[in-house]
Amino acid sequence: MVSKDVVPAVTLNSGYRMPAMGLGVWRMENTAVRGVIHSAIRSGYRHFDCAAKYQNEAEVGEALAEAFQTGLVKREIYSLQQRIILNTLYMSQLPSSSSGIGKTASVIGEDGVLDIDTTISLETTWRAMEKLVYMGLVRSIGISNYGVFLTRDCLAYAKIKPAVNQIEMHPYFQRDSLVKFCQKHGICVTAHTPLGGGCTANAKLFGSLSCLDDPVIEDMAEKYGKTPAQLILRWSHQRNIVVIPKTSKVERLKENIEIFDFDISDEDMEEIKAIDKNHRTNQPGKFWGIDVYA
Ligand SMILES: NC(=O)c1ccc[n+]([C@@H]2O[C@H](COP(=O)([O-])OP(=O)(O)OC[C@H]3O[C@@H](n4cnc5c(N)ncnc54)[C@H](OP(=O)(O)O)[C@@H]3O)[C@@H](O)[C@H]2O)c1
Repeated sequence: MVSKDVVPAVTLNSGYRMPAMGLGVWRMENTAVRGVIHSAIRSGYRHFDCAAKYQNEAEVGEALAEAFQTGLVKREIYSLQQRIILNTLYMSQLPSSSSGIGKTASVIGEDGVLDIDTTISLETTWRAMEKLVYMGLVRSIGISNYGVFLTRDCLAYAKIKPAVNQIEMHPYFQRDSLVKFCQKHGICVTAHTPLGGGCTANAKLFGSLSCLDDPVIEDMAEKYGKTPAQLILRWSHQRNIVVIPKTSKVERLKENIEIFDFDISDEDMEEIKAIDKNHRTNQPGKFWGIDVYA
């Protein structure tokens, strides 16, 4: 059995604890999932970010079930984040009620126009999610890709406050005011795409601008004896942001989790702050078929 203490945990406003680092599984090939999840568990990961949209939920579930059955890890120390109902945190993925359970398709209609349900408000969606908590089906509920104004709105109508807001965040898209607003109101920020989508080799998906290749990041990483990815993930951690980098490579699973043994100085945190480009890699419409990020 692997120690559960490799990654520190944060306490959510629901009272439950969640590891400060998880593994994202978007674009993880279905055949690779089992091996990657088991390697991740051996490396100390106890938090997985899943979604119906990723179309590998069954494989993730089977891999975890096997890990519990074989005693690789105990079930109760797990945190599954996002859009899955199992002892877990459940999130509304987009500021749209059409992104429901099991709904994986694009929300663009045949006419090329956004096709989302206009009869169900986000408040109604939130009420349904609150019910899941009352029914004991989920522990914590959260929001995703909500900007300041939708977050503010949610805080106004929520009987159970969102525990998490999962947003794109990395050195080229730092979103300081949104991050601080959420944190001020007790909402834990989780960074999706925390590496900015990886290196420029991923240009087809994420564009040709990558914070992993930034000279400030590269030089500073060398100074700390760390890799650019480790420096970037540590920088988020020091902003009290939970990170969920995705990798299908065993060596990178280990690399990405080894960020809890060093500190970035205040001066260097400021230097990284200065490289912000307000550059969103998840371009509206590119992945989710939706052209509104409120
Ligand atoms: N809520 C939402 O709307 C939303 C949107 C996007 C993503 N997400 C979640 O956030 C997770 C992470 O985001 P993401 O996958 O878009 O981007 P990311 O984690 O920023 O980057 C992933 C890419 O970086 C590469 N990589 C990983 N570790 C690396 C390292 N140490 N050095 C160099 N390259 C490295 C990976 O390649 P290899 O696999 O080849 O290592 C992969 O191509 C997703 O998997 C998903 O769970 C949520």
